[in-house]
Amino acid sequence: MLPGGMPGRFPFPVPDGWFAVATSAELAPGEVRAIRAFARDLVLFRTASGRPVVVDAHCPHLGAHLGVGGRVIGESIRCPFHGWRFDAGGRCVEIGYARRIPRGARTRSWDVIERNAMILVWHHLEGAPPFFEVPALPEFDDPDWTEPRHYERCVRSAVQELAENDHDTAHFRYVHGLEIPEIEVQYDGLQRTVVTGGIRETDAGRFRTRLVRRSFGLGAMAVRSEGVPGAGTLLFNSLTPIDEENVHLRWSFTVTRNLAGSVGRDFIDGLIEAVQPDIPIWENKVYRPEPPLCDGDGPVAGFRRWALQFYSHARPDRAAAARP
Ligand code: FES
Ligand SMILES: [Fe+2]
Repeated sequence: MLPGGMPGRFPFPVPDGWFAVATSAELAPGEVRAIRAFARDLVLFRTASGRPVVVDAHCPHLGAHLGVGGRVIGESIRCPFHGWRFDAGGRCVEIGYARRIPRGARTRSWDVIERNAMILVWHHLEGAPPFFEVPALPEFDDPDWTEPRHYERCVRSAVQELAENDHDTAHFRYVHGLEIPEIEVQYDGLQRTVVTGGIRETDAGRFRTRLVRRSFGLGAMAVRSEGVPGAGTLLFNSLTPIDEENVHLRWSFTVTRNLAGSVGRDFIDGLIEAVQPDIPIWENKVYRPEPPLCDGDGPVAGFRRWALQFYSHARPDRAAAARP
């Protein structure tokens, strides 16, 4: 078991990385949400100027939940209990009935980025700053691509288990009724690229296609289908650990405008439908740390070695870098 892992179905703790806590569309300026992520209670709000902010949920004063009755005031959030106001950095900036703001009147503020139609938060096991980026995928800002569509659901599993699924090629036959795909995996430090091949039938003919998945940590992945000229699809797949045994899966899709009608919809609906039979498997399986893999199994062991770097405290170099 990795240090910090919970004795339970999975031997690993919540990993380091960027994880989505909402889609951009679901949080307007002035809105506040109570969030459960990383086995913690957090509050997400969007300031009047549009900046998304995440802070620890419980007020440092007498412990009220800022996400339950808290109000956005300009660039800050006001606690519902005694009206203390906290800025985006988590600092108390106003107490309506006090002459002095006490030391320690602050709540933890988390690193947040808004990208690819999602709001993402940095989680690190020892509280270190981000050690990688999630790039802005250009398709989301391209007028030739559609407005994003979303899908989400919770799954009783761990992010590492869901991320491993792409490497497990044999399950495609038994769970999805497909051919076992050819798979090519490249690891480049913190990045992982998984390419599988396929055939797509369209009105314009039959094309050899490739599904290219690029991961940014265990919680964010761009999935592009390539090979049909002039037609592109992109899925931004995000996996957020609610805690050690529950994942919030969120997908944002965009397709080239020439696919905007039924073709694009079918493609998106097809992906949503395709993941459904995985879910009861994920929700009821356990993690085998040393599985007896056979020669027909996909490259699962390589994935697991790559994934270790997102458990910083299990790596002496990163743990040391994280210590103040
Ligand atoms: S508990 Fe938040 S202001 Fe008192
Ligand atoms: Fe699957």
